[in-house]
Amino acid sequence: MKIGIKNIVKAKEHIVCLTSYTAPMTRIVDPLVDIILVGDSLGMAIYGFENTLPVTLDMMIAHGEAVARTAGHALVVIDMPYGTYEKSPAQALENAKRIMDETKADAVKLEGGLAFIDTIRTLVENGIPVMGHVGLLPQSVEKMGGYKIQGRGDEGAQKVMADAKAVEKAGAFSVVIEGTLEPVARDITDALSIPTIGIGASPFCDGQILVVNDLLGTFSAFSPKFAKRYINLPPIIVEAISQYADDVRERRFPTMDHCYLPKLDDGGS
Ligand code: KIV
Repeated sequence: MKIGIKNIVKAKEHIVCLTSYTAPMTRIVDPLVDIILVGDSLGMAIYGFENTLPVTLDMMIAHGEAVARTAGHALVVIDMPYGTYEKSPAQALENAKRIMDETKADAVKLEGGLAFIDTIRTLVENGIPVMGHVGLLPQSVEKMGGYKIQGRGDEGAQKVMADAKAVEKAGAFSVVIEGTLEPVARDITDALSIPTIGIGASPFCDGQILVVNDLLGTFSAFSPKFAKRYINLPPIIVEAISQYADDVRERRFPTMDHCYLPKLDDGGS
């Protein structure tokens, strides 16, 4: 059964989210999770950028289309990349429409709280479901002076809380809380009626999200404290590719089983 926005809002707990950027990975992930996020983390996970800032709308649409076409169960959410929604609600609407029309995804996600009330409201009023994203905002890494944990001190805690409440009031159906002190994320989860999705936040968030490459060990440029590696795939991949390389060099692959042979009665053509 395909999961809809209403199922996620109603659940308000135990929500399992994971990123995916390609069709083959989506085939594996889709039956196991509630939400697939085509995150702009693909900038690092797939394209080898240092951060998410160089990710373009066209990249998000290409990957989003592949994921949405393949997923039959999980809700598919696509990140709006840096530079595609900050200027005005009209800019955000034009680009969010492109994402929704061209990918057939279920929702978009954008980073920011109080400053984006009008933007989120405009998208929602135009029928585009929005997932918010507060706390540590990777697209603001340069403005914030690095990846800094949010919610420190009374003022910091109040800021993340105010952002989360603003996102809810503007009509978002859920909100990611990233890189935020645990008690702050817990308080936000208690205060909101929409589900909170934590990453580096709190076990008491209504759901959790990880970047699939962190979970599988296939991203090693850096490993944040919150990223749990469930398996270390690279040595397994190295073993398989080494065997293939040895087989080719020793002429053990391909065998006749992998070749197209002429039929005995067709003259060999
Ligand atoms: O881009 C991404 O993958 C994200 C998650 C880390 C929440 O925004």
